[in-house]
Amino acid sequence: MSDSPSRSPRLTERPEWTALENHRKDALPQPDLRELFAADPGRAERYVVHVGDLRIDYSKHLVTDETLALLQELATATDVFGQRDAMFRGEKINTTENRAVLHTALRAPRDAVIEVDGENVVPGVHAVLDKMSGFANRVRSGEWTGHTGKRIRNVVNIGIGGSDLGPAMAYDALRPFTARELTFRFVSNVDGSDLHEATRDLDPAETLFIVASKTFTTIETITNATSARSWLLEGLGGDEKAVAKHFVALSTNAEKVAGFGIDVDNMFEFWDWVGGRYSYDSAIGLSLMIAIGPDRFLEMLDGFRIVDEHFRNAPAEANAPLIMGLLGIWYGNFHGAQSHAVLPYSHYLSKFTAYLQQLDMESNGKSVERDGNPVEWQTGPVVWGTPGTNGQHAYYQLIHQGTKLIPADLIGFARPVAELSDELKAQHDLLMANLFAQGQALAFGKTAEEVRAEGVPEEQVPHRTFKGNRPTTTILATELTPSVLGQLVALYEHKVFVQGAVWNIDSFDQWGVELGKVLAKRVEPALTEGADVPGLDPSTAALVAAYRNLREV
Ligand code: F6P
Repeated sequence: MSDSPSRSPRLTERPEWTALENHRKDALPQPDLRELFAADPGRAERYVVHVGDLRIDYSKHLVTDETLALLQELATATDVFGQRDAMFRGEKINTTENRAVLHTALRAPRDAVIEVDGENVVPGVHAVLDKMSGFANRVRSGEWTGHTGKRIRNVVNIGIGGSDLGPAMAYDALRPFTARELTFRFVSNVDGSDLHEATRDLDPAETLFIVASKTFTTIETITNATSARSWLLEGLGGDEKAVAKHFVALSTNAEKVAGFGIDVDNMFEFWDWVGGRYSYDSAIGLSLMIAIGPDRFLEMLDGFRIVDEHFRNAPAEANAPLIMGLLGIWYGNFHGAQSHAVLPYSHYLSKFTAYLQQLDMESNGKSVERDGNPVEWQTGPVVWGTPGTNGQHAYYQLIHQGTKLIPADLIGFARPVAELSDELKAQHDLLMANLFAQGQALAFGKTAEEVRAEGVPEEQVPHRTFKGNRPTTTILATELTPSVLGQLVALYEHKVFVQGAVWNIDSFDQWGVELGKVLAKRVEPALTEGADVPGLDPSTAALVAAYRNLREV
């Protein structure tokens, strides 16, 4: 494979890659943000890009104009924009699954034409959105009632991975826009405690289950949905007809939905060209739509579209996902950074980083190129983080003074969107002061001279010195509206795309999670039935035996 004469050069063989390596060695061996700003104060204004409502400041990065130009040359050499256009056109760029990658079609306007295998997919997208809107309105108004005639007051989404993280994250993010009289819960874990806690105080007669699963074969989801069905029937006297009023499905697999016993009229469809981790703006967002209402949901889709259009049309030097993707490559591939922190200064974005973990790590956690050759360069980073300011009192110490370089995104808003009391509203400035202070401290640190000037005893000086030069991107918007949330998610979706395009990997498959699923199915009978599992390795066999013994104690 690798010896084919027509093969384009591998990433690390490209002159653009070598130019970046040399630049790192010769021009920026010890990049220092104090010096970079002193030499070029204009970078504070120049290294800012605007997308929709987002102001993205990347001035506190270990880069110069030359670095950025060299990174752009790498993007050109690897044809990132050509690959982007192929995605938007609906080409089957997910080659290992032979699928198009068209989450962008989920937010395309009604009159757009995007073809997969010669068929325009946009009318289908809008037909489902219309069906979702009708249903969401009926639940919200009380017109859709449960089996006993009571109105629905509780909505429980059962799904996992992309069928959970997106709606759960967005529900939290948009809490101020939600119908507060309804209760929403999100169950994902096959640990029965998850469903137990989600349902223990609910009245089955008032509860709607949304079973969200692209494949409708995911063991965790189907197991939880089966248990939820039993809980419902037990609570409602066992009449099977109740299922139709209390269960709907979000899936690409009508046959399996019907097999489970859910009326396919109550199924909201999506398509194999929507990846699970790119799916919450599809039917997978039904719980969110019920929570915020169809209009707000459509505003969110508008937000996604703003960034899609930007990614498609903005020139390279002002293209936010491209710049963010390339900066990640600069650290991961040329500075040895292993991880990337996303630190939202908004309590409503508590689940945002967890959502991005799947988006980024399931997409770019790959170690072979598209043609199957092992990569010889680092690919996706470990993505982690929790909301500031909580993280500041936990792990920021390591970011400031540890031995690892951890680029971070700081995300904040000019004003809170919730209706807060004046006193609580005033806390917002304190929250944001923390964001700005962290960016400043991470970038510029504190020199030994500055520490000494404060009269600190000499033996403590090294401990109180901060080297700085910890890079951050600061993303600001006025407030966290549905549109802004859509913009943020699309920004990261396309950033992940850019990185996968440069690394020449398939960002849209996830074979790495399959092996664990298969093995779990093989091991399960050893636990449930005490069956012998042939071929179990000695370590796992010993664990299984220990588990069985402990269970009996
Ligand atoms: O964990 C792998 C995965 O396929 C994810 O990509 C997906 O989001 C999740 O499982 C859930 O899959 P499904 O929606 O088919 O239940």
